[in-house]
Amino acid sequence: MKITSAEFLISNTDISKCPESDKPEYAFIGRSNVGKSSLINMVCERKSLAKTSSTPGKTQLINHFLINEDTYLVDLPGYGFAKASKKEKAKWEIFIHTYLNQRDNLLCTFVLIDSRLSPQKIDLEFMEKLGKKGIPFVIVFTKIDKLGSSALKKNMLHYQKEMLKTWEELPPIFLTSASTKYGKEEIWNFIASTSKDYLNAK
Ligand code: GTP
Ligand code: MG
Repeated sequence: MKITSAEFLISNTDISKCPESDKPEYAFIGRSNVGKSSLINMVCERKSLAKTSSTPGKTQLINHFLINEDTYLVDLPGYGFAKASKKEKAKWEIFIHTYLNQRDNLLCTFVLIDSRLSPQKIDLEFMEKLGKKGIPFVIVFTKIDKLGSSALKKNMLHYQKEMLKTWEELPPIFLTSASTKYGKEEIWNFIASTSKDYLNAK
């Protein structure tokens, strides 16, 4: 997809202060440092639209970006940030879950998972929570440039096998790399078809 405009709109912790919920919206979430902000920059063809950092815990607010004037992408803080205090973690959990549960134009949540790791309890539990609440999500494996094709295949099969222990059906799965730009078109194709269905049904 051609990106004609990509602008940062607002950061906050309060869903009532998010932009008007009049356009299809997609949120990016996952463990701290998994590559959420980098993926947003990659799909938007911008180097520093979303702030990235090699130190976990960079994104701490709900950040809205408006793309091509018709789609909101949202960069969220990561979960599982070891250095955050209990109080901070509790605060994030409340505002993130309030956002995920109440934002009525949120069409899908991209759950980012580091492709190098074996299935982690924290991610599996997070997706179970989304499932229980009926919040639509897809899985996006990140940093695939960091491992070879056979290791990647092995990890993907392992992940799917693990998920099928609790899920009857798997959500769509995307493979991405912010370094090589792998997966960009697939993400936009998914967004375009999801938004089209939503707008047609309106
Ligand atoms: P928080 O906001 O702290 O939760 O992190 P985040 O999930 O937004 O991660 P961020 O995009 O800031 O990236 C974390 C680190 O991973 C940075 O050093 C990025 O350069 C690196 N990184 C992100 N995506 C990729 C990727 O696809 N490939 C490689 N090699 N590095 C990546
Ligand atoms: Mg971030």
